Amino acid sequence: MKALILVGGFGTRLRPLTLSVPKPLVDFANKPMILHQIEALKAIGVTEVVLAINYQPEVMLNFLKDFEEKIGIKITCSQETEPLGTAGPLALARDKLTDISGDPFFVLNSDVISEYPLKQMIEFHKSHGGEASIMVTKVDEPSKYGVVVMEESTGQVERFVEKPKLFVGNKINAGIYLLNPSVLDRIELRPTSIEKEVFPNIARDKKLYAMVLPGFWMDIGQPRDYISGLRLYLDSLKKKSSPKLAAGPHIIGNVLVDESAKIGEGCLIGPDVAIGPGCVVESGVRLSRCTVMRGVRIKKHACISSSIIGWHSTVGQWARVENMTILGEDVHVGDEIYSNGGVVLPHKEIKSSILKPEIVM
Ligand code: GDD
Ligand code: MG
Repeated sequence: MKALILVGGFGTRLRPLTLSVPKPLVDFANKPMILHQIEALKAIGVTEVVLAINYQPEVMLNFLKDFEEKIGIKITCSQETEPLGTAGPLALARDKLTDISGDPFFVLNSDVISEYPLKQMIEFHKSHGGEASIMVTKVDEPSKYGVVVMEESTGQVERFVEKPKLFVGNKINAGIYLLNPSVLDRIELRPTSIEKEVFPNIARDKKLYAMVLPGFWMDIGQPRDYISGLRLYLDSLKKKSSPKLAAGPHIIGNVLVDESAKIGEGCLIGPDVAIGPGCVVESGVRLSRCTVMRGVRIKKHACISSSIIGWHSTVGQWARVENMTILGEDVHVGDEIYSNGGVVLPHKEIKSSILKPEIVM
């Protein structure tokens, strides 16, 4: 089986992290977002992943070369010369996605995180005999997603409305699809949207089916959702009694600590924290609801909550970093500094406190 991941886009909503790497390479729970997906695809027997990309393909491919071998999966790129939207890239990659087997293929948005119940999706797809299956999930705020109205008993989709202005339902497109090759005959090679053009058409022909996604789901393309997504992800590890979760008297709730990270005396860490490879957390540090990426140093008695600390940054001693502070790569926060929602671009030194949420260039 094959799969295509929609990688394009500049990831502007996840700046300043995406100023250093393309969005799919931003770490989530200690590994690049896209690896969560590639590993899940590999686990259910996908042998080739096509990355539909319109920005910095070299960066992605160089990075993923290592993993191709480690994971044992073929990774190729299909590069657009202009952004083709969410459907155009499928037409462009047509030859890569089809072969004599006639098997359906997966399509994934690159910024969604879940338990990827892809095996169940294959079963569902076989059971309904339509052309396309999509995963849906319930959310409180459906207006920022694609909303799906379906017949509950069969899953047949009656309507697909992208970003509705008026309420039509609370089941939304989770950005995980399984499509028959025949769907490609519905897509022209031009900038076009699978949500606005392709799915409404297949639904009209009564060949689009939706399955309610079991377990958690989150689009982690924005900082607030990224932080909530980590909580849901760690919670699902907890439910599976995953040995990856840290334990000990200094740990509260669900916490991931890379084995190469060093944690000092008297720290209190958690809940909902990820500490990446090579990090040094000095003594007396307090961390909650935050991500600390590879190579970060947190000095003595600093306190960080509800924030993301980008790669190789440092946070000074007794500093207090909170309220959706996002530090880009290689940012250095001085001793005793306070950051209340500062969004700091890469390679900056912060010498005075940031008292209210603002962007620091
Ligand atoms: N190759 C390529 N080219 N990929 C693209 C392009 C493009 O021109 N434009 C967007 N993408 C990719 C994005 O990188 C992302 O992985 C995916 O397509 C969806 O784009 P987003 O910009 O993240 O869309 P969204 O979050 O507003 O809405 C989509 O996702 C929701 C779930 O998170 C839609 O699919 C909604 O229907 C859905 O509910
Ligand atoms: Mg998105």
